[in-house]
Amino acid sequence: MKEEIEQILAEIQALKCQTEKEVEEARVRLLGKKGEITRLFDEFRTISPEMKREFGQRLNVLKKEAMAKIDELRSSAVSAPAASETAFDPTMPGDPMPLGSRHPVSIARQEIVNIFRKFGYDVAEGPEIEDDYHVFEALNFPPNHPARDMQDTFFVSTGHVNPLLLRTHTSSVQVRAMETMKLPIRVICPGRVFRNEAISARAHCIFHQVEGLYIDENVTFADLKQAILLFAREMFGPDTQIRMRPSYFPFTEPSAEVDVSCNICHGKGCNICKGTGWLEILGCGMVDPNVLEASGIDSKKYSGFAFGMGIERIAMLKWQVNDLRHYFENDMRFLREFSSCVEG
Ligand code: DAH
Repeated sequence: MKEEIEQILAEIQALKCQTEKEVEEARVRLLGKKGEITRLFDEFRTISPEMKREFGQRLNVLKKEAMAKIDELRSSAVSAPAASETAFDPTMPGDPMPLGSRHPVSIARQEIVNIFRKFGYDVAEGPEIEDDYHVFEALNFPPNHPARDMQDTFFVSTGHVNPLLLRTHTSSVQVRAMETMKLPIRVICPGRVFRNEAISARAHCIFHQVEGLYIDENVTFADLKQAILLFAREMFGPDTQIRMRPSYFPFTEPSAEVDVSCNICHGKGCNICKGTGWLEILGCGMVDPNVLEASGIDSKKYSGFAFGMGIERIAMLKWQVNDLRHYFENDMRFLREFSSCVEG
């Protein structure tokens, strides 16, 4: 044991290392679990008590020497150069930047726009901060309609005849289209809308809608039905059926709500369609003559239809997302799910 101790001591004194990696290798060789010094300590346990006194001290000195040397070498060793520092090669391609992807609401919006573009619709946009006239008055809302209440609408200014507010629907853009565009009008208006709603899985205070408007001579309810059916089949698949339920909106007469056959259970009934086989996608109707006249269109000569849909709702149905809040929280795990969806 004595010779071994001497030999290791000599080895320690002569030890030279260039890099941190070499220092670590020397440490493991000497002091690691299976290292030479550790092995001597194991042997030490088996020797006679007289010898223990002599070798105990020597072994402790050896261990201290080894530890001191390792510390010394470590402080002077150079860390291994990073791969990029070894040699700079200007001909190598650069590091790729991770590519983002479009937000699912943008993808759905673009898909809706593309479908209606194919049908010959133009795209129009209007202001998000609107006045009462374009959001309510010109659309035949009675003066005390609940949507005109502070409870439901975010007002920007109050107290005068035509207050400014955050538009509660994109139907306001149909009014602007009727005011400015030449007849016939065939337009869709995508955009952001705001309502004073508590945030939940099914409602949010900010969301997106697409409004559609077609005005010409002799436009009938049959044209509306056909436009919606073609849209639904493009959006949800060629086997999709639609059904219309009578409804009421101040700006259309008659009005309807449209359901599509559930694209998950194909009408058999599942928990997405709550067992009915149908999913509501939009509201629509024939533009009320009062609305045409308010924008200076002769309601005796012209007629038209309008429809409005929530983009998040369409996206939820298309991709079976059950909580609206996913669209606003920007959780990367959710957003990455859509990285391969490219609008057609
Ligand atoms: N503006 C309605 C809403 O926000 C949606 C709507 C319903 C628009 C019927 C229309 C329509 O153009 O005809 O709930």
